[in-house]
Amino acid sequence: MDAAPGKPFQVRYRYVVAPMVGQCDLPFRMQCRANGSQLVYTPMFFADRFASDARYRERAFQTVAEDRPLAVQFGANDPDILLQAAKYVENDCDAVDLNLGCPQQRAADGHYGAYLLPKVNWPRVLSMVAICHRHLRVPIICKIRLLPDLNDTITLCKLLQAAGCSLIAVHGRRLAGDKKRRVGPANLEAIRRIKCSLTIPVISNGNVRTYDDVINNLRITNADGIMSGEAILANPSLFSQRTPDPFHHCDEYFQYCERFGAPPVKWVADHIKNFIRCIRVRGQSQAMTDLRAIGHLTNSLDMKEQTSSSIVAATANNTILPSSSASSSSSSLLLSSSLSSSLRERQRALESLAPVRKIVEDLRAIVRKANSGDDNKDDEYDEPSTGMNNLWHNDD
Ligand SMILES: Cc1cc2nc3c(=O)[nH]c(=O)nc-3n(C[C@H](O)[C@H](O)[C@H](O)COP(=O)(O)O)c2cc1C
Repeated sequence: MDAAPGKPFQVRYRYVVAPMVGQCDLPFRMQCRANGSQLVYTPMFFADRFASDARYRERAFQTVAEDRPLAVQFGANDPDILLQAAKYVENDCDAVDLNLGCPQQRAADGHYGAYLLPKVNWPRVLSMVAICHRHLRVPIICKIRLLPDLNDTITLCKLLQAAGCSLIAVHGRRLAGDKKRRVGPANLEAIRRIKCSLTIPVISNGNVRTYDDVINNLRITNADGIMSGEAILANPSLFSQRTPDPFHHCDEYFQYCERFGAPPVKWVADHIKNFIRCIRVRGQSQAMTDLRAIGHLTNSLDMKEQTSSSIVAATANNTILPSSSASSSSSSLLLSSSLSSSLRERQRALESLAPVRKIVEDLRAIVRKANSGDDNKDDEYDEPSTGMNNLWHNDD
């Protein structure tokens, strides 16, 4: 087995929140941490824009001192540009992650993510890892998908390890085109084989739905940790083994938005849609009609207009770290000079949440009524996820 030259990465981070574009905003990361997650990734940022555009950095990445352990993910295909981007965050995170798993068409067009997995790209991938390993203060880690041939996947993982990669998160599905990117079970046997071929920690990812899946997956793969994406979006308490409480999760998320600043309202609405997928309603027809009406209302919110309301909040109690602190120390920087304008922005962002809050309140009343009606008492509890999913889906 190759020796692992990478910087040591803690393996006590057993419960991991996957990188998710449009979803891993600061309030959600903090909510997951409060509910048992131990390592959280940011969404993927484009390394070239992050390296060159201060406004993109500011809008894309917000953090606070308590937002740790944190892995910041980049999509990249150029070693120098990746390093330049990573330098901006190395003081504000615990690891920089290279995305080698994104299967979307835009990743094919931009030549990053899973489209770097074919052998012809390995030298480029390995130089991205090696340069970050040499010049960053924090470990460089990678998130990959399975290649068509498991032996190739294992060979690549060993090469990544030898180049200085400190941890590999394996999404146990193969690249199968944009539309099937998260369809089907994960190949746990493949993850097990990868895990026993490496000395660095391996995180298992793919198709975990319940806490039983978490246990089962770890038992089969023997991985050091487990990463959840879609399931944790619906139930941020997944890792704490609590039964999902959708309205509690909505309230909690709004509280984190108040405390840390709200992301674009479309992201907020997507979180709410994910939480309420777990709602169970007794006695169907009227409640489902009302739920559908609410779904249309949510969709009709003019999200696009409001997507510019990114997080810029700095409150008296909380300290928002700007992403441009590459040369600063890792201590928290209070944006005191811009506090009053930040508070105004924060106020605006929170005001833009009002329609979403209203929808949650209406929904709460509908569900309460549906579940308390005497005429429903013989009905089974039922998960309205089919109807909701038809109306609402993430478009990552
Ligand atoms: C909304 C959404 C956004 C995602 N964005 C990213 C991303 O930015 N980077 C990445 O590596 N994977 C991304 N993924 C994939 C997840 O990290 C994860 O690998 C995938 O969802 C499989 O895990 P799951 O079965 O637990 O959902 C995204 C997934 C979802 C659902």
